Amino acid sequence: MEQIICVISQKGGVGKTVTSVNLAAALAMNRKKTLLVDCDPQGSASASAGIHRNISGPTLKQGAKGICTLEEITVLSCHEFLKVIPMPRGIFHEDDEFDLMQGQKTCLRTFLSGAEDLFDYIIIDTAAPAGFLTLNAIIAANAVIIPLQCELLAFQTLRLTIKILEQVKLTDNPGLKLAGILLTMYDQGEDVSERIIKSVRKHLKKYMFKTVIPRSTQIRELSIWCKPIVIRKIGTVAAQNYFDLAWEVMQMCNSVKSNLKKRN
Ligand SMILES: Nc1ncnc2c1ncn2[C@@H]1O[C@H](COP(=O)(O)OP(=O)(O)O)[C@@H](O)[C@H]1O
Ligand SMILES: [Mg+2]
Repeated sequence: MEQIICVISQKGGVGKTVTSVNLAAALAMNRKKTLLVDCDPQGSASASAGIHRNISGPTLKQGAKGICTLEEITVLSCHEFLKVIPMPRGIFHEDDEFDLMQGQKTCLRTFLSGAEDLFDYIIIDTAAPAGFLTLNAIIAANAVIIPLQCELLAFQTLRLTIKILEQVKLTDNPGLKLAGILLTMYDQGEDVSERIIKSVRKHLKKYMFKTVIPRSTQIRELSIWCKPIVIRKIGTVAAQNYFDLAWEVMQMCNSVKSNLKKRN
């Protein structure tokens, strides 16, 4: 069974896209068959994975309509184990998102169920604030990662993001798990970063990934390279941190699988 992990936050600019792309690429580097699904109408994940935005051919819209198959809309990325469902060019409004998903909140789940046995991991990047596409993504997922930027405003929106998660779990996706909260853009020694890390470790420790992503100039330059840092600059600290995150995710998924086996 593949793991479908959705990266969400109600706050923009907290590292959702960077995390989705680098986690997906790090899993691919570990020879895990990985699919990155770009569910942000801005298409940043597609671009960061090296996919040109003027993609021709069918897209998620045709997939959601059932006109084409998952294989027909996936494209190869810069790594043989990483495929991408890119977001077509153009900025969408809420109505367009609704249209894209045929007005059904389970559209993406149905569509991705066709990916069973094709991939080990499916990572979905989403937009903030949560619109109809994001709702589809959370309903399609088995687990969620919440990036938390080491900054006060981001910390304050965490509660809202968790509330959305709980709501979806209650109404549409009872099996949904919080894989973890991931601290991003941590500045060692900087006052706000230290306060936030101290506070989350005190109150939310059991929900946190051990891995913490530091603020890194190389990550900021990633948009110029159009390649994940784990592929383009494999030796950097930031790349190592995303490999550590991938390792934590793989460990987590293995323990879920072995628990399921024991139960059966
Ligand atoms: N660890 C990091 N260090 C430095 N810059 C980062 C880091 N993570 C993300 N960024 C930068 O912050 C901005 C927002 O990141 P992004 O992943 O696009 O956020 P989101 O998808 O949540 O809106 C981008 O310019 C990105 O390059
Ligand atoms: Mg983004």
